[in-house]
Amino acid sequence: MSVDTVQAGPVNSQGYREFALGEFRFRRDEFFAYITWPTGSHIMSVDAFLRALQRDVAWDFFYGIVNFDGVFGTVNHYGTVDMFAGRFNEAYRKAELDYSENIETPLIRSTFAAMLDDWTNETFDPFASPHETGPAFGIKNGGNNAAVTRRRVAADRMVNVAGDEELRSDDNGHPVNRMFLDVPQDEPEIEAEPGFESEVAAFNLFAYLSRSQVTWNPSVVSVCKNSLFCPTTEEYILPIIHGNDRVEWFFQLSDEIHWEVEHRDTGGVRARVVMKPGDVCAMPADIRHQGYAPKRSMLLVWENGDPALPDLIASGRTPTYPVEF
Ligand code: PHB
Ligand code: FE
Repeated sequence: MSVDTVQAGPVNSQGYREFALGEFRFRRDEFFAYITWPTGSHIMSVDAFLRALQRDVAWDFFYGIVNFDGVFGTVNHYGTVDMFAGRFNEAYRKAELDYSENIETPLIRSTFAAMLDDWTNETFDPFASPHETGPAFGIKNGGNNAAVTRRRVAADRMVNVAGDEELRSDDNGHPVNRMFLDVPQDEPEIEAEPGFESEVAAFNLFAYLSRSQVTWNPSVVSVCKNSLFCPTTEEYILPIIHGNDRVEWFFQLSDEIHWEVEHRDTGGVRARVVMKPGDVCAMPADIRHQGYAPKRSMLLVWENGDPALPDLIASGRTPTYPVEF
C-alpha cells in the first residue's frame, strides 16, 4: 500500500503533522501526544508515546495486544489490526467510553510509520535507553530516519549458521555497551567432524547482546520449527504493556527486571515478579505485563510462533498456562 493512503492532515504551529485513521485523530505538541475518537480523548507524554509507537511499528503489531498505556493500543489479528481506546480498561468499559476499530494491516502500518517519522526529532531515538538519547520534546527539529526505520533482527535458523552470519552484531562494528564492558568477548571453539563443518555452529550470546545498541527490542537468534529464542537488552521501562495471545517464557540472563502483571482485559493488578539472574518464569496467556529494569540487563524471551495458538487459547482448547504441576 502506498503512503498516499495515509490521511496526513495539516502541519500545526509547532511544526508537526496531524494524522487521521478511521475515526481516530492524532496530534502532538512540544510535550504531549493527543488522541481523540468519537466517545473520548486521551493525552500521553510524547516520549512514552513514541517509544510505544516505535515498537508497534518495528514488531509489525507483535503478538496479541500492544497497550501504549492503560487506554490506547492495538490488537493484532495477523492481517488486520484493532486500534482501540479504553477497551482493556474496566472503568472506560463501564462508562461505555471504550472504542475500537478494525483496520487493514497495510494502512495502520503505513500511518503509524508516517506518524513515527514525522513526530521523531533529530535528537530522539525511541529505541535507546534514556541515558543514550536526547529529548523527544520541543518544536519540530529535523528527523531520525535511521533510528525509526530499524527493524527487529531475525535469524532464519541461528546466528552464525550459514546464511545468518550477518546477524552477528560484533561483525558489524557495534561497540560493547557502556553497561556491559565486563562481558567476556571470547567465542566458542568449534571442532566439527570432517564433513560436518557447515552444520555445526556456535556463538557467544552474551558477547552478542553486550553489543546491542537498543533496549526492549528482542531479536530472533534461533529458530527451531515454532520455537523462537528472542533475547534482548533492557534498561528503564518496557514502553508497552504487552497482552499476549499465547504463553511466553522469560529467562533472566543478567541483572534484574521487575514485572508488573495485570489482568489482560481489565488491567486489575495480579502480581509483581522480581526476576534475578537465572530465574525463569512463564507469563500466562490471560495477563498483560510491563517490565522495569533498574540497570541494563539481558533477558531471553522464548516465544512459540505457532499461528494456531491464539485461536486454540481463545476457544479454551489450550490452557492459558503452560504447565500443570
Ligand atoms: C514482552 O512483551 O514480553 C517483551 C517485549 C519486549 C521485550 C521484552 C519482553 O524487550
Ligand atoms: Fe510479552
